[in-house]
Amino acid sequence: MISKETIDKVFELARVEEVIADFVVLKKSGANYKGLSPFTNEKTPSFIVSPAKQIWKDFSSGKGGNVIAFLMEHEHFNYPESIKYIANKYNIEIVETNNFPENIEKKNEIESLFIINKFAVSSFKENLNKEVSDSLEYLMNRGLSKKIIDDFDLGFCLPNRSSFYQSAKTKGFKDSYLEKTGLIIFNEEKVIDRFRDRVIFPIKSLSGRVLGFGGRTTISSKKTAKYINSPESEIYNKSKILYGIYESRQSIVKDDLCILVEGYMDVLQFHENGIKNVLASSGTSLTEDQITLISRLTSNIVLLFDGDTAGVNAALRSTDMILEKGLNVKICSFPEGEDPDSYVKDNKKDKTLDFINNNSKDFIEFKLSFYNEDLKDEDKKVDVIKSVIKSISKIPDRLKQEVYIKKCSQIIDIDESTLFNSLNSTEKNNSRITRNRRISKNNDLSIVKKEKNIKPHNYFYELEKQIITILLKYGENEITYEDTILSHSENGDIKEEKKNIKSKVFEKIFLDLQQDEIELAHPPFQKIYKKLIELYNNQNKFVFEKFVNELDSDLSKIASDILIFDEKYSLHDWEKRNIYVKKIGSELSQLVNETLLNMRRYLIDERIKKLQEINIDKNKDELLQEVMRYSRLKKVLSSKLNRVV
Ligand code: CTP
Ligand code: MN
Repeated sequence: MISKETIDKVFELARVEEVIADFVVLKKSGANYKGLSPFTNEKTPSFIVSPAKQIWKDFSSGKGGNVIAFLMEHEHFNYPESIKYIANKYNIEIVETNNFPENIEKKNEIESLFIINKFAVSSFKENLNKEVSDSLEYLMNRGLSKKIIDDFDLGFCLPNRSSFYQSAKTKGFKDSYLEKTGLIIFNEEKVIDRFRDRVIFPIKSLSGRVLGFGGRTTISSKKTAKYINSPESEIYNKSKILYGIYESRQSIVKDDLCILVEGYMDVLQFHENGIKNVLASSGTSLTEDQITLISRLTSNIVLLFDGDTAGVNAALRSTDMILEKGLNVKICSFPEGEDPDSYVKDNKKDKTLDFINNNSKDFIEFKLSFYNEDLKDEDKKVDVIKSVIKSISKIPDRLKQEVYIKKCSQIIDIDESTLFNSLNSTEKNNSRITRNRRISKNNDLSIVKKEKNIKPHNYFYELEKQIITILLKYGENEITYEDTILSHSENGDIKEEKKNIKSKVFEKIFLDLQQDEIELAHPPFQKIYKKLIELYNNQNKFVFEKFVNELDSDLSKIASDILIFDEKYSLHDWEKRNIYVKKIGSELSQLVNETLLNMRRYLIDERIKKLQEINIDKNKDELLQEVMRYSRLKKVLSSKLNRVV
């Protein structure tokens, strides 16, 4: 784990505008900086960085947060990777804690494998450029420019038995680590390089670290395998990575689409021709982890493959897996004898994109056209339909399912309701299968809780947001408000006494909500609320940046959203959303009061609605009385708010 001191130091020294400036061209605009969103293809800048608050907000994609959130969104780093990136940038020493000896060893080993791979890349690149072979010429003849060759760090390994091993030894790398990278093979006291006389394709992680290699021979001979690849290792898990992810990640996000191809050369040739949202499965069938990886960037995938049977079968398998993960998939097959590489090389960008657009089919069209012949045979037709229904049953979204059923019904001219029936029974079957699987796995039949469906912009959401905003901005301010205090007078009567009470904003809010047993309903607000109250209660000096940095990234996004949004549109914009508050300058205590009253009024309204909905089998009078009681209460609140009920 990275030590707290290191993390503190990172937050202390990192300037959000400096970190972002490495990725986005920023221009000063008032107190803030502005630039073009790196997450969309916008033409007018709506990406804002606030140096004062150390946060950023992208109005075109809705994303925002602190400096870490930016690196996580833009570079797809995880938290520690982001911290390390900044530490590196600002020359902060990374101190790690919890380092048991075996952890250190493991970490050192993994770091060592990465270092060796990095060294290998540079040495292979050097070979390619030294013109010790015609490998560079080979790549250029295939249509790749120096720029793409360089961007993808392509290289060449020498034909000698162990020239890489020799050069690695001069760097002092340990044999055991060299073996673990898979670059060197040790057997019976012989040591040989795995890759010899091949063009090298480094396979990188999302954050650009080199995990393994592919190597292609430049001679066409049946005797040598066209490609060889690094074996799996501590750092290279083939089923979790796709070739091109590092180089294509930003375009995939921007285009909100991932083009999936089979080979290294397809990816390179697409990039060469300006289509940059492309990844390769490297000839193996797509895995769940790979789909998850893509889903971090987009939920739209187009599969490109050559039209032979092997290709079609692989595409069909992948399709069901993608649907199951809730992503959208289209399938595009290339003409006989063509692959994406050759097609784009001959036809260039626009024609290729046209081709993909015109020939992409959703899975229904694809299955039906593929089994076109079978549809003419009544028996086989049933199987085809069943297989289409099976794909539809994998889609988690009911609405999408309906759309596809309609489509299917139109194409094959079968009644929608028949198809729905079939879908329902297939789904029952599916759930039986998964249930059985679950039982056999851990004997646990727990039902997965449905996520609460929260409409993001209803009235109550806005009210809760307002509470959080007030706490964030004015939590420690002092307000005076009038309260009624009950006390016994000398003669024993109960006396009502109005008193002006002074308190801090956060105390008033906390006590009022507690008294009414009101809990914020939206989990992110709940969490921020709890943290804020804790912080104020402990009388810590409230520093907004520090607070935001200590929140999880999704919470920090909400908190910084509130403040940037607030700055841009100011409070009175809320009036448009039916929340009548006086402007902040006039009276803070009034704002606090009105917000709390509004909240109560809303909850009472809800309560009344609920009571009215209850079936009248309960005692009618009792119910009516309750409704009346609440209505009276509402009236009191409304009069306090100076409003007609
Ligand atoms: N592949 C492999 N081992 C092989 C053949 C193929 O690992 N013996 C993988 C490679 O990742 C390759 C992909 O499968 O990129 C697709 O194979 P293929 O279409 O044969 O190769 P291309 O990428 O088209 O390469 P080229 O155009 O150079 O023939
Ligand atoms: Mn090819």
